[in-house]
Amino acid sequence: METIAFARGVPAPEMLPVDELQAASARVFERDPVRLLSYGTGGGYDPLRRSLAERHGVEPERVVVTTGSLQGFSLLAQVLARRATLEGRRARVIVEEPTYDRPLLLLERLGIEVVPVPLDGEGVDVEALDRAMARGADLAYLIPTYQNPAGATLTASRRRAVVASAERHGVLVLEDDPYGLLHFEEPAPPTLFSQRGEAPVAFSGSFSKTVAPGLRVGWFVLPEELAFDVATLANDTYISASVLGQATVHEFVESGAFEPNVERARGMLAERRTHILDALERHLPEATFTAPAGGYFIWIRLPDGLDAASVVAPAAAEGVTFIPGISFGADCGAYARLAFSSPPVDQIDAGVQRLAAACTAALALA
Ligand SMILES: Cc1ncc(COP(=O)(O)O)c(C=O)c1O
Repeated sequence: METIAFARGVPAPEMLPVDELQAASARVFERDPVRLLSYGTGGGYDPLRRSLAERHGVEPERVVVTTGSLQGFSLLAQVLARRATLEGRRARVIVEEPTYDRPLLLLERLGIEVVPVPLDGEGVDVEALDRAMARGADLAYLIPTYQNPAGATLTASRRRAVVASAERHGVLVLEDDPYGLLHFEEPAPPTLFSQRGEAPVAFSGSFSKTVAPGLRVGWFVLPEELAFDVATLANDTYISASVLGQATVHEFVESGAFEPNVERARGMLAERRTHILDALERHLPEATFTAPAGGYFIWIRLPDGLDAASVVAPAAAEGVTFIPGISFGADCGAYARLAFSSPPVDQIDAGVQRLAAACTAALALA
């Protein structure tokens, strides 16, 4: 029996634009092989850095292209932790609860104080966020659009409130936005970054979910001094991100392949979303959730207050995987994150059926 994987937030194989990427990398190899095969700089491959700067309406010095955006987050967290240490204090970072698990692990490993703020179907609780910011923080790490893991999208009015809080308290917000373009119907409200005004808002993006994760190309738009420190740390750590990956993605974008690929990905993800909603209604009607309007994930509250961690082993025995809520926040044990992006469309129904059987098995053991 082949396992049906709802665990990994990755694109399905058929979402990867294999031919276009092959052609893009052949073209850049043909054009500039020596540059491609040499070290780059900590700030990133210049043409890509400049085009991202243009996209965001900032100077190129504020953009740092990293080996995936997670690597950039790790560098940023290290810079903030060190700055705090030099001031004789411990860095503090506000996060949504639930939030993407890997940044949580990185922050904890660096000894940074993590302050969780609850999130509901309309995104982060802006009053709780304001109170947390009022106590001071080095960063508020938010994923406002098609959140990982909750699939939630911050409403337009809450976005305005977040920007106002950032400005009022002088707390830097990092808007992590790898999924923002992947809407199923209406586009998401404008990014926090685009409506920041004078507020301290930074942005991170990634080509992992819209093009291909194996390229390992993400980027940050930061206040200039922070961008300099992050690029310097990148240079000290790995000299430069892979020039081949960055140049290939740049060529892919410049050749006009990006927009049609995003459009294609939206269609495939929307189809998968429809299948998983149908399957949940059919096989797990007691589960509760907010239907995502884009992205890769659905966040379900399991029936009868089941502890999701207790369902992992029965699920594996049934041939389905998912990530239990506890990985994304201390208070999230009753939830499960299902990534509907990666399993074949025709296996989604069977996957949810197996998950339902695993819930029944876990209840019998409880
Ligand atoms: C919210 C969020 N940020 C960042 C990343 C990491 O992306 P990258 O592949 O660019 O490191 C992910 C990947 O799952 C994610 O969900």
